[in-house]
Amino acid sequence: MTDVIKTADRDGVRVITIDNAPVNAISAAVRTGLQAAIKAAEADPKVKAIVLTGAGRAFIAGADIREFGKPPAVGVPNLRENIAALEACTKPVVAAINGAAAGGGLEIALGCHYRVAHPKAVLGLPEVNLGTIPGATGTQRLPRAVGVEAALEMIVNGVLIPAAKCPPGLADELAEDVVGKAVALALSKPVRRLSEDDSKLAAAKAKPGLFDEYRKGMARRFRGFTAPYKCVEAVELCVKYGYAEGIAKEREIFLWCQEQPEARGMRHVFFSEREVARVPSIPKEVKPREIRSAGVIGCGTMGGGIAMNFANAGIPVTVIENDAAALEKGLGLIRKNYAGTVERGRMTQDAMDKRMALIKGSTSYDDLKTPDIVIEAVFENLDLKKQIFGRLDKVAKPGAVLATNTSTLDVDAIAAATSRPQDVVGTHFFSPANVMKLLENVRGARTSDETAQTAMELARRINKVGVMVGVCDGFVGNRMLYAYSRQASFLVEEGAAPEQVDKAIYDFGFPMGPFQMSDLAGLDVGYMVRKERKERAPTNLRYANTVADRLYEMGRYGQKTGKGWYLYDAQRNRSADPAVAALIEQVAKEQGRARRAIANDEIVERCMYALVNEGAQLLDEGIAARPLDIDMIWIFGYGFPRYRGGPIFWADEVGLPRILDRLNHYRQHHDRDWLEPAPLLARLAREGRTFKSWTAER
Ligand code: 3HC
Ligand code: NAI
Repeated sequence: MTDVIKTADRDGVRVITIDNAPVNAISAAVRTGLQAAIKAAEADPKVKAIVLTGAGRAFIAGADIREFGKPPAVGVPNLRENIAALEACTKPVVAAINGAAAGGGLEIALGCHYRVAHPKAVLGLPEVNLGTIPGATGTQRLPRAVGVEAALEMIVNGVLIPAAKCPPGLADELAEDVVGKAVALALSKPVRRLSEDDSKLAAAKAKPGLFDEYRKGMARRFRGFTAPYKCVEAVELCVKYGYAEGIAKEREIFLWCQEQPEARGMRHVFFSEREVARVPSIPKEVKPREIRSAGVIGCGTMGGGIAMNFANAGIPVTVIENDAAALEKGLGLIRKNYAGTVERGRMTQDAMDKRMALIKGSTSYDDLKTPDIVIEAVFENLDLKKQIFGRLDKVAKPGAVLATNTSTLDVDAIAAATSRPQDVVGTHFFSPANVMKLLENVRGARTSDETAQTAMELARRINKVGVMVGVCDGFVGNRMLYAYSRQASFLVEEGAAPEQVDKAIYDFGFPMGPFQMSDLAGLDVGYMVRKERKERAPTNLRYANTVADRLYEMGRYGQKTGKGWYLYDAQRNRSADPAVAALIEQVAKEQGRARRAIANDEIVERCMYALVNEGAQLLDEGIAARPLDIDMIWIFGYGFPRYRGGPIFWADEVGLPRILDRLNHYRQHHDRDWLEPAPLLARLAREGRTFKSWTAER
């Protein structure tokens, strides 16, 4: 057989093993080899039955996603032909699902006559996460195996489910020795074909409103996404048509989805989520230090959330506060947070108790002698942070990673307060720190490879997406946020209402617009940062935050005070406030600005193109190493719509010449100071190129 297909006979059963490391994706070579193996087994009179399994950790991870978007290989059977050949066999065929059976992998298993799964193997059709639908009979077979409603749930949500929790009908047997069990089953059962069995469709056929009802429940969860709706449309085919017509129409939908920008964006995210962990500035052979215990200094909003991350990952953590009262308050908040999760039924009391037991409070720095990593999360004040790092330097054990959660301050200046700057790194969490997926790690000028790698390993251990960036004011995420929020503020001064800007950004796909976000984070937080910056780096360029400053001065800090950009009632429902509209008019008048009607397109273009432009500048400066780093930061830290692939990927889709043209237009007419095209963006646009081609060239 070919390299990727191995065969062996056992008790008269032909065991076909797919061996295409790392996860047995169904490449052209696999499809060719599999087709030949099926044909040979069927023709061999010594073979009584067939078992199909995978080598290594996966059964089959699905179609080879790297082949998507490329022309199909000539003369190679396609996945549907493989599946049809398996099902058509006149000898019983059993899938021995040793590990993940995802997408095309599960579709292959559904083409087999029976399925035996390892209890820990995960099964599912996650194509929706790639912006597409199962395209090799999955939408027509899974409902026939488990019923329409269970199939809808699996296909629309795209989650991989452990075999032991799968709906009945998916795995016929669970076994540790999957191949042994599959061989026994293959020898004892007759051929059976899902495509010929409509019995499980009857219940859905008797419920005419089922699909419309299901769609109604999807609106909030899948706002802006197309693929989940296409999944429903495809499953619906199985109650409208027979199997043959159903799979033909499934194919049409699949091919349509594959051509959409959404599928390109989602594929980019799939690969970037994995690639982002390989940091170009850290040599491959560098190993992280072990993290067996942790310390956190400051148990406020962020410190408490950071400590929960450690406890959730089973890592004991010591939190340090100034005094007993602050400590009790901080620990109380953590407890309340967990208790809320228990109340909502998302965690057992026992799990909460175990996590709380891992968190130890203290007011003494002596308790920071043993942790392998200490994360500082005190007030955003450089002198205070320097003082704390000086103290930490004296107590922490040699080799401990000393990390700061600062969101704006100079990590190099903080590192210089210690005798071991090589051990200092920024670990910038996002609020709420126990929920948000992003960990923006900041590598200082003297951070060692090992320390940097440990910060990346930390992200993996606590189930976050770690992205490594360099030092500058605001790092990558917040520096880009400033560029975007600045335009949002200018738009309000020039004529838009805050709620119009928020709605336009929400409709673009963000979970909320900039003013809603500001009310949530607290206007006091932004005010303090601006105050410090005004003193540190005064500038004559147009000032964006006059209205925000006035709101702060009026004591309108946002949700926490019941008013900010909006008014909030006791249930935190927001409404536009005429007092804010009047304030905006007043500020415009003071500035001598005639307000004008502003179109939603202008809002989206100015905010998003400014965001992209700042991203280009960060790439040019090397603060962000790769476009994908920026894309991951914005998707996982700021809620940039995943289906658009991240701001830099999206910019390529829009076309850089257009972005350059519009930046120049808005600069000329509305904002002379802040919309100057970044040299990298301008150059790529003039050369008719993309960020993708620029990345490939480096
Ligand atoms: N095609 C190509 N490469 C794949 C792949 C696939 N289907 N699945 C995983 N890989 C690659 C990853 O990119 C990664 O590569 P890297 O090491 O170079 O970064 C490597 O395999 C290992 O992947 P993971 O780190 O994710 O490995 P895990 O063991 O953690 O997880 C898994 C295994 C659960 C199978 C996970 O890889 C996964 O969910 N894969 C994607 C499954 C999927 O989406 N399948 C649907 C494909 S589309 C399809 O089948 C269409 C059909 O309906 C016609
Ligand atoms: P916070 O004010 O909620 O908490 C700070 C805590 O540090 C307080 O509980 C305080 O008592 C404690 N503290 C002060 N000095 C101390 C000392 N010497 N020893 C021990 N504890 C001390 O502040 P928050 O919001 O948690 O911010 C902490 C850090 O995280 C800041 O650097 C901030 O810039 C950063 N950050 C904040 C984000 C946010 O959204 N709040 C997001 C990302 C980073």
